[in-house]
Amino acid sequence: TFPTPSPVQAKEKSELKDFLHISDFDKATIMNILNRAAEVKALLKSGERTYLPFKGKTMAMIFAKPSMRTRVSFETGFSLLGGHAIYLGPDDIQMGKREETRDVARVLSRYNDIIMARVFAHQDILDLAKYSSVPVVNGLTDYNHPCQIMADALTMIEHIGQLEGTKVVYVGDGNNIVHSWLLLAAVIPFHFVCACPKGFEPDEKTVEKARQAGVSKIEITNDPKEAVRGADVVYSDVWASMGQKEEAAYRRQVFKGFQVDEALMKLAGPKAYFMHCLPAERGVEVTDGVIEAPNSIVFPQAENRMHAQNAIMLNLLGF
Ligand code: CP
Repeated sequence: TFPTPSPVQAKEKSELKDFLHISDFDKATIMNILNRAAEVKALLKSGERTYLPFKGKTMAMIFAKPSMRTRVSFETGFSLLGGHAIYLGPDDIQMGKREETRDVARVLSRYNDIIMARVFAHQDILDLAKYSSVPVVNGLTDYNHPCQIMADALTMIEHIGQLEGTKVVYVGDGNNIVHSWLLLAAVIPFHFVCACPKGFEPDEKTVEKARQAGVSKIEITNDPKEAVRGADVVYSDVWASMGQKEEAAYRRQVFKGFQVDEALMKLAGPKAYFMHCLPAERGVEVTDGVIEAPNSIVFPQAENRMHAQNAIMLNLLGF
């Protein structure tokens, strides 16, 4: 059920060294990576363990803050395909504090075949990519989360049959997940709606970039009830991220009315799936009932982080 990229546009390998923003890639390359993710997922799910393209290769994983999904999905995926992943936490590297980012990039490039970084400050990922001689994968910044959105696209194709032409409604803060959806909508045609409280809209330049691409219908609204009508996917994320702990109580007040609950899902209709990048605060941005409902696909979505990332790394490493 995966759309086959046009043979004219299709490129087997990315011409880009790094994976930093979805919109750096053309539609054919994104679809090729998603197809590859599905193939390698099927192989790994079958129990096959003889496909080892990363044998003899190492990956440095830089984490500025704690993470479960990103760490385990990258480390497991790289290991299952024969490679060795090295975890570097906040005690090992303090980008721009203990050591300059450009020096970290040049040193790690000399040991490793690929670098994955979850650095929060977006400039750090740009600097890492600029000074690294090996591919750099953006494992999340405060601006965007391209690996998550590739996993989300894969999950939608598996459950809906396609990404193109669907209606995705994000309910909550106009954060890095929303920017990733907007950058995807600049390349692949679908209808994207962000329903957020006033003052919590996504970055204006990114909204403009997505609109100017002329590929997808983009709406930013403050009315979640109207937004979710006819949605194929209702998507949510935490109202306060790790860096916003002091604001959490204030945000709970402002975001009242933006909780994805059973009533909102009913307005979306029976075919709407619920998605969330996790971790979720049950009872805050989403109810327990919605996350546990049969049309919640948050766990296949979390699993697909690994498969999408494997395909991204295969592409960047030339397989
Ligand atoms: N979704 C996500 O990036 O999860 P972690 O914070 O657990 O890595």
